[in-house]
Amino acid sequence: MNFYLNTLGELPISLEEPFTVNWTAPSNIALVKYWGKHGKQLPCNPSLSFSLRESTTTTRISFSPNKSLKVALNFQGQENEKFRERLERFFAGLGEVTHFFRHMEIDIESTNTFPHSAGVASSASSLASIALCVSSLIYHATEKEMDDGFYRLASYFARLGSGSASRSVYGRYSIWGHTSILSSNDEYAMEFKDYDPLFAELSDAILIVSDREKRISSTVGHSVMNVNPYADTRYLNAQKNVLKIIDAMKKGDLLRFFAIVEQEALEVHAMMMVANPPHLLFEPNTIEIINRIKEFKERTALPVGYTIDTGPNVHLLYFDRDKEKVMPFIEELRQFCQGGKIIFDGLGVGPVRNRIE
Ligand code: DP6
Repeated sequence: MNFYLNTLGELPISLEEPFTVNWTAPSNIALVKYWGKHGKQLPCNPSLSFSLRESTTTTRISFSPNKSLKVALNFQGQENEKFRERLERFFAGLGEVTHFFRHMEIDIESTNTFPHSAGVASSASSLASIALCVSSLIYHATEKEMDDGFYRLASYFARLGSGSASRSVYGRYSIWGHTSILSSNDEYAMEFKDYDPLFAELSDAILIVSDREKRISSTVGHSVMNVNPYADTRYLNAQKNVLKIIDAMKKGDLLRFFAIVEQEALEVHAMMMVANPPHLLFEPNTIEIINRIKEFKERTALPVGYTIDTGPNVHLLYFDRDKEKVMPFIEELRQFCQGGKIIFDGLGVGPVRNRIE
């Protein structure tokens, strides 16, 4: 029996009256990356991420009893048929587990604070905000009091929509996937709290090398790992890197922390380069920025580092307390960004339930 059924038990839940709920959830950026999945959205390795402060999605959902499942979507003030179909599949998937979702009209209004092509994963914050609404619905329908299980349930639902979204139902740092030392597991993420206070703040300057849609789709990216000859080595390294980064964060070892983060970013890109067919997602300016960060670190010995998702844009990570010293360097990097575009973000406190007006 899976986690979802365990949680809901055999509760005879039904929706008699319409229920409206509104959540804001953050996007997140992985420091140790999830890349490769199996079964029903289960990760091939554990990952660790932090939630962003500024890049969020706010979603308001009205659930009403209906003869069948019907999903309507207004995304960024417009209809979006592709995303609506994806969400309909998501809710139909929930309906396979419990009849509850088979008889519902679901009216979704969702907006992001960041542009689609900003190099920030919008599916993570979107699906997390939707999953939090679903979790609220379940708690409402079963008259359950708020508890920690609420976020685990939301993370579980979010994962079914998009793996990385499972980590976006929490603030600060999250771990998703089984590791040998924590009680983490593959079905839902949990918050990681056991770090040195040095990590209580972290800034992220997102250097937009290109705002063209050049991310490899997750569907393609994860599936090429299934036939990648280096996949098993990668999964093993990621296992080790999660344990190493936890250790570095516990000890407040900033240099080791950034060494792991950078190695992770490049290893995932290496996996894409050795895929068949290969994918090279770096632009010349991505490499220029990476090299300049390396020089800057050697010159200043400041604890900074970078991570890169499945595209050309670079997340320059640093601590607020070094802001004055790092800002002139960030300005120097602006020339390598498309239209000089940089998004300033950082570690966020997590999702918020909004009042219904
Ligand atoms: C490179 O979560 O977008 O950002 O589960 O298919 O929706 P799906 O994939 P997705 O993959 C994210 C991959 C990544 C690394 C990470 O966030 O861990």
